[in-house]
Amino acid sequence: MVAPFLLPALLAFFAATASTSTPTIHKVPIGGGNQTCRYIPGDAGWPSQRQWARLNSTVGGRLIATVPVAHVCHLQGQFAAYDQESCSTLGTAFQDSGPATLCPIPGEVLNPYWQNETCSPFTAPGVSCELGNRAAYSINVTGPADVQAGLAFATANNIRLVIRNTGIDYLGKSTGQGALALWTYNLKAIEIIPGYETPLYTGPTVKLGAGVTAGEAYEAVQGSGYRIIAPECGLTGVVGGYAQGGGQSQLITAYGMAADQVLEWELVTPRGEYLLATPEHNSDLYWALAGGGGGTNGVVLGATFKAYPEGPVAGGEMVVQSANTTALFEAIGIWFHQGPSYVESSRNNIQFFVTNDTLTVLNFVMPDQNASSIDELLGPFLPELGRLGLNYTFTTTDYPTYLDSFIASYGPLPYGDLCPSFPIISSRVIPRATVLDPAANRRLVDLYRNITDGGTWWVGCSFLNVDDSPGSARPPHPPNSVHPVWRSAVAYCNPQTHGPYGWKEPAAVTALRRTLVDDIFPALEAATPGGAVQNEIDPTYRGDWKETFYGANYDRLLSIKHAYDPSFNMYGLFAVGSDEFRMDKAGRLCRA
Ligand SMILES: Cc1cc2nc3c(=O)[nH]c(=O)nc-3n(C[C@H](O)[C@H](O)[C@H](O)COP(=O)(O)OP(=O)(O)OC[C@H]3O[C@@H](n4cnc5c(N)ncnc54)[C@H](O)[C@@H]3O)c2cc1C
Ligand SMILES: *[C@@H]1O[C@H](CO)[C@@H](O)[C@H](O)[C@H]1NC(C)=O
Ligand SMILES: *[C@@H]1O[C@H](CO)[C@@H](O)[C@H](O)[C@H]1NC(C)=O
Ligand SMILES: *[C@@H]1O[C@H](CO)[C@@H](O)[C@H](O)[C@H]1NC(C)=O
Ligand SMILES: *[C@@H]1O[C@H](CO)[C@@H](O)[C@H](O)[C@H]1NC(C)=O
Ligand SMILES: *[C@@H]1O[C@H](CO)[C@@H](O)[C@H](O)[C@H]1NC(C)=O
Ligand SMILES: *[C@@H]1O[C@H](CO)[C@@H](O)[C@H](O)[C@H]1NC(C)=O
Ligand SMILES: *[C@@H]1O[C@H](CO)[C@@H](O)[C@H](O)[C@H]1NC(C)=O
Ligand SMILES: *[C@@H]1O[C@H](CO)[C@@H](O)[C@H](O)[C@H]1NC(C)=O
Ligand SMILES: *[C@@H]1O[C@H](CO)[C@@H](O)[C@H](O)[C@H]1NC(C)=O
Repeated sequence: MVAPFLLPALLAFFAATASTSTPTIHKVPIGGGNQTCRYIPGDAGWPSQRQWARLNSTVGGRLIATVPVAHVCHLQGQFAAYDQESCSTLGTAFQDSGPATLCPIPGEVLNPYWQNETCSPFTAPGVSCELGNRAAYSINVTGPADVQAGLAFATANNIRLVIRNTGIDYLGKSTGQGALALWTYNLKAIEIIPGYETPLYTGPTVKLGAGVTAGEAYEAVQGSGYRIIAPECGLTGVVGGYAQGGGQSQLITAYGMAADQVLEWELVTPRGEYLLATPEHNSDLYWALAGGGGGTNGVVLGATFKAYPEGPVAGGEMVVQSANTTALFEAIGIWFHQGPSYVESSRNNIQFFVTNDTLTVLNFVMPDQNASSIDELLGPFLPELGRLGLNYTFTTTDYPTYLDSFIASYGPLPYGDLCPSFPIISSRVIPRATVLDPAANRRLVDLYRNITDGGTWWVGCSFLNVDDSPGSARPPHPPNSVHPVWRSAVAYCNPQTHGPYGWKEPAAVTALRRTLVDDIFPALEAATPGGAVQNEIDPTYRGDWKETFYGANYDRLLSIKHAYDPSFNMYGLFAVGSDEFRMDKAGRLCRA
């Protein structure tokens, strides 16, 4: 199949609307006239009920007014509907299955940092239930016309716009006070194309609608004998924040980052144009979407990903546990030093974590190999454990497919049971040079020992290699805006808190975040030059975010952002261009 540049549906859309209202977006400066802030509910300029009703009819009755799900826990505020039993059931669901409870609810906020006790199962019934940082309305998007209607409405009425898929984003980029949300979660189409063909790539692909979650994608490709790069948490979306933000996977060393897989983005630009961005057409937009971050360059309706033939995967687990932290952390230093050799010229991914008293390999993921490869890989490491007097357990399993391997560690499908529920999280991409240099290695491992000391924090890591220089083990990919720091990385590591989130102890949570901001972030940056995973970081991050999340790509990303989104419809914390905005005291989004 050769990718069509102009989509038939686009032509049909313009034909259908030509005689009525034009979908072109008015290029008004923010606020029209001299306004510098977007309106929020309660402002005189906030759209009237009649205007909302008109938008609702434009989008076929798919406009949803947000009602915070915890309204059943409150006696005060416009949404109050207190019911003790429903509230207690909801509180249990928040704690036991957090994201699984909240993802499908339009307008709901997932990260408790953004929910900010504005309508919570864990505050007293007498506390008022308010919208807070939630979007005020959502359009349940079914296609480009809904998106165009939403963009036109937000621009004409000077209100904030957000794109929300699962709403899982730590940085809160899929929510915003008083916003109109374009809710893409129900775009569930999946199309497997075995014989896709462009000048750049010939082979199998899968086209995923913007609302397809990782678990749904895995289930769909399973039957067709393919593997794809998708998130480990089955609840996470694939096309939205994940692939646009780079995207990690257990198959990352075999095939590259999620953004490296994309061959086409089908989107509506912030100005309302419905188009395809490919390496050949609208290539600047293609480049920016593949790595430059979600919610920034347009509303993606679907994306086409490379797919690969299924095959066996060698897997295994290893636990080294000891109260002798001197010996344990010496072993961890050796583990990091050997890390580059485990993923060099290979397809291997190794997911492990460090606590105050263990080094645990959650899974060895060795695509298209058998368990003897894991024995071989550990050949240089296990004798070091013996030398240090450390005990370990180690098991291997041969899985017939990647899917079997995936389910063993993250299953069952579709959602699995290993989605982290609201950790307080930091992240760094770990350069190969850091772990290979003895002094830098010692400093890094000493830092992890300090962070995990006391048992509050643990460090989750993934050994990988996504070097894309000519002759690398991975298939070539079109140029994209993935942070260059990834290409010379041996791992990413995320220091984070153990679950469950302290919903009922806001002061303790604030103290943990203070440790993160005052101690952990600065020490991590000093120990690991480069950058961080833009999707896996706490909103309290205070470092040089342009360098940390975009590196040398920032200036080009910003010029593409300005070109495609001149009236700045798409804002997000640490998104490209976000420093051109600020929040006022009431929470309005304003020009800086
Ligand atoms: C519990 C949990 C588990 C996670 N597991 C993994 C994992 O296993 N692997 C991994 O790599 N990452 C993981 N992440 C991080 C994840 O990749 C990011 O949170 C990502 O932003 C999620 O994207 P989403 O579309 O599902 O979320 P959303 O919160 O809906 O959106 C995230 C961002 O993308 C934008 N966006 C969403 N849809 C679109 C669209 N259609 N077009 C344009 N922009 C869009 C939003 O505006 C927002 O900026 C996890 C996060 C959490 C909280
Ligand atoms: C904007 O401000 C300028 C100068 O303060 C004023 O002359 C102009 O009339 C204002 N425009 C609107 C639409 O309020
Ligand atoms: C939009 O219209 C539908 C169908 O008439 C209705 O069910 C829904 O409540 C309306 N939404 C809003 C926000 O009024
Ligand atoms: C949470 O609420 C407090 C008190 O209203 C406010 O000062 C703070 O800015 C809010 N935080 C967020 C992230 O909205
Ligand atoms: C959103 O639309 C889909 C159809 O596209 C429908 O199945 C679903 O029930 C709607 N969700 C809500 C909350 O209205
Ligand atoms: C495992 O793979 C190796 C190397 O490819 C091969 O030599 C060996 O025979 C395989 N072992 C089994 C049990 O299949
Ligand atoms: C801890 O391990 C080191 C290195 O193997 C060893 O020298 C030391 O004696 C051990 N300490 C204790 C208390 O066992
Ligand atoms: C290792 O295991 C043996 C046997 O279970 C035990 O006697 C020994 O104390 C352990 N050593 C350490 C350092 O934990
Ligand atoms: C770890 O903590 C010790 C003791 O507080 C301190 O001396 C050392 O500098 C810390 N190391 C790092 C890398 O932060
Ligand atoms: C690790 O932390 C746990 C939980 O706080 C604690 O019980 C344990 O003693 C700690 N172990 C070491 C070796 O410090």
